[in-house]
Amino acid sequence: MPLATAVAILAVLVVLGQLGGVPALAGMVTLLAAAAFWPRDAALSVDVLAKVPVPTDQAPDVDRTGWRAVVDAIPTAALALDGAGCVVHHNRLITELFPEILVGQPMSQFTRNPDLIGAIDLAFASDDRVEVELTERVPVERRVCATVSRVVQTAVPSSPYLLVTFRDLTEQDRLAQMRADFIANASHELRTPLASLRGFVETLQGPAREDPDARERFLWLMAGQAERMTRLIDDLLSLSRVEMRVHLPPRGIVELNETAAYVCQLVEPLTDVTKVEITLERHDAPARIRGDREEIVQVIQNLLQNAIKYGREDGKVQVRVERDPSKGSLPAKVWVSVTDDGPGIAPEHLPRLTERFYRVNVASSREKGGTGLGLAIVKHILNRHRAELKIASKLGVGSTFGVSFDELGADS
Ligand SMILES: Nc1ncnc2c1ncn2[C@@H]1O[C@H](COP(=O)(O)OP(=O)(O)O)[C@@H](O)[C@H]1O
Ligand SMILES: [Mg+2]
Repeated sequence: MPLATAVAILAVLVVLGQLGGVPALAGMVTLLAAAAFWPRDAALSVDVLAKVPVPTDQAPDVDRTGWRAVVDAIPTAALALDGAGCVVHHNRLITELFPEILVGQPMSQFTRNPDLIGAIDLAFASDDRVEVELTERVPVERRVCATVSRVVQTAVPSSPYLLVTFRDLTEQDRLAQMRADFIANASHELRTPLASLRGFVETLQGPAREDPDARERFLWLMAGQAERMTRLIDDLLSLSRVEMRVHLPPRGIVELNETAAYVCQLVEPLTDVTKVEITLERHDAPARIRGDREEIVQVIQNLLQNAIKYGREDGKVQVRVERDPSKGSLPAKVWVSVTDDGPGIAPEHLPRLTERFYRVNVASSREKGGTGLGLAIVKHILNRHRAELKIASKLGVGSTFGVSFDELGADS
């Protein structure tokens, strides 16, 4: 199974040649090389980066066009030490790690971490770049990688000699943990029907070999388990496809009245069993959005299927297309909402519903053909569309799942 969350790691190794005689230039090139060496994954996903203000308030009297500007531009915490081991400059991000840092002070004034001090001592004694992993426990537990690089060959007082940069590995660890959990969950979900299929096969090979009635019954149950595995694999592939496209803005135009009507027809056969009545309230004007029609169909279909599956038997499900006019600088929004009159969902579950494999009641979801991936797929599709999912539910009354999109103006 392809993992859409797999991260490409770019490593650019810059080896500086002999730049003797021009130490200032060599220092500058090394600083730039060090900046280029920084993990590129954050820089590549430009659209998910928050805008970080460029520091302007540090030592305003200092010329900011030279190497200091390079230190400021490094996207992670960074500081430069002179030949005596005192801080000559740092960027703003460093204060998150060392709130008490001051230019002119040695490192030992604001950190007691023996690994970091040792790495700096080692970098003073050798030409190699030194990397060390630090574990912070307060104020929150996190893992940080510090890299100490020599930036010039000879130490000149009050000029940069070593560059120390810090990279927070906590997010990377969290993603690795999520990936491991996902694989464990997916394997577990597949193993359950597989184990029952094997059980049926053994029974058919043994005790039920000559029993045509039992054979018929077991084959029917086996077909059900195989269907469950197929559904799970289909959902996993669907999730992976959606994840791969999440950064590609959709190019099509989707009209929500027409799409909602189409999905209502699509799920009609499901209501034969549960006797649920679906009504559609259209918006009285076109509700157009920038979107991928197939994916929008998938979103509404997932919400409608859930309302039918987890709603009340003989219940009512209402699909509405609405519009919120623009407010100030905010664009007008168009909505599709699906409301059921089922048992509702307790508030503590609401924030977790879009997690992969999260189900309020695992047995009930399985019995109804659920995989626990439907709302995770919905969330990823909505992320791609820069749209929002809002869930409101009251126990004993019912639930509303609404998705809101920026309206596409008439001139687009
Ligand atoms: N309309 C609803 N009413 C009650 N519970 C719901 C509703 N929609 C979703 N849920 C709960 O959210 C869980 C996750 O939904 P989903 O991701 O679509 O997975 P699945 O339907 O495959 O179990 C469901 O298992 C169910 O417990
Ligand atoms: Mg579902």
